[in-house]
Amino acid sequence: MKNGKVISVINQKGGVLKTTTVLHLGSALARMGKKVLLIDLDVSQANLTISTIGQLDEEGRGVLHAFFKDCTLNQVTYPTSQENLFIVPSEIKYKGRTIPLDVALASQPGSDQILKKLLKPMTSEYDFIIIDNGPTLGIATLNSLIASEYFLIPTLADYLSLVGVQKTMETIEQIRENLDHEIENLGLVLTMIDGRESIAKDSETILNNAFEGKVFNTCIQRNSKFKELAQNQTTIFDVTKNSDKGNKNYRELAEEVMNRLGMKSEIKNINKTNKMKNTEVSAGGMQ
Ligand SMILES: Nc1ncnc2c1ncn2[C@@H]1O[C@H](COP(=O)(O)OP(=O)(O)OP(=O)(O)O)[C@@H](O)[C@H]1O
Ligand SMILES: [Mg+2]
Repeated sequence: MKNGKVISVINQKGGVLKTTTVLHLGSALARMGKKVLLIDLDVSQANLTISTIGQLDEEGRGVLHAFFKDCTLNQVTYPTSQENLFIVPSEIKYKGRTIPLDVALASQPGSDQILKKLLKPMTSEYDFIIIDNGPTLGIATLNSLIASEYFLIPTLADYLSLVGVQKTMETIEQIRENLDHEIENLGLVLTMIDGRESIAKDSETILNNAFEGKVFNTCIQRNSKFKELAQNQTTIFDVTKNSDKGNKNYRELAEEVMNRLGMKSEIKNINKTNKMKNTEVSAGGMQ
């Protein structure tokens, strides 16, 4: 029986590599032999879904169907073409309509605890459950944080991004206090780092001072190869060698995550596993 670590990847600021980090951290861990479930809670964009199994069709069921009690999470868990890597996708529309979760769940008591309840029977099946969040702080993100034991914040290394981190931390602090929910900071990862920028060094110093010991040693460097991955439903591991900087960055981040969680990381040539590519998705999902 497994004891799945539930991790929210969160930042209220957009475009900081939340989705890319969820996919590549998950993929790296899966390639190290861990069983990983990704959850797409960014219901307005569904970028994680589009980047892994492709957009669901009109009848396709995903996380919204589970939120609205049509099915269990297990029934909307789909395999990806990568071994050990599964996804609960997000539907852009629910039963043919765009339904903002905040509006739909506004009057429901306990609407911030739905994911926590849905995940309960799932944690013993996975080593890691990693949740992607949109750049907003609505009911979906609240559900994500309340369902998680850990959060991980990707951030760019500029002033406005650091302000975004501050705001995100304030929200988490409120949740900790108001809901008496223990959630641990797994770490902050600096993203889109360009080696030439001195601002990155300054930001790293500011973050290190503010969050002592929490900034990952690994930075995700700027790398245009990532831009082409989503449309082909591939990961950087599928299209590059181990020596490529993007490939290396995410493998090292996965190792650091494992170390922080007291798990032994097994470094293998993680490129030698299934290539991730277009997977047929059938309505109803499977596991
Ligand atoms: N290392 C990288 N260097 C440069 N661009 C990257 C890198 N990794 C990913 N990208 C591109 O940056 C863009 C934003 O990434 P991503 O979608 O992961 O951010 P996000 O934080 O999830 O955004 P949102 O807040 O909208 O959900 C994407 O177009 C992605 O392809
Ligand atoms: Mg995203």
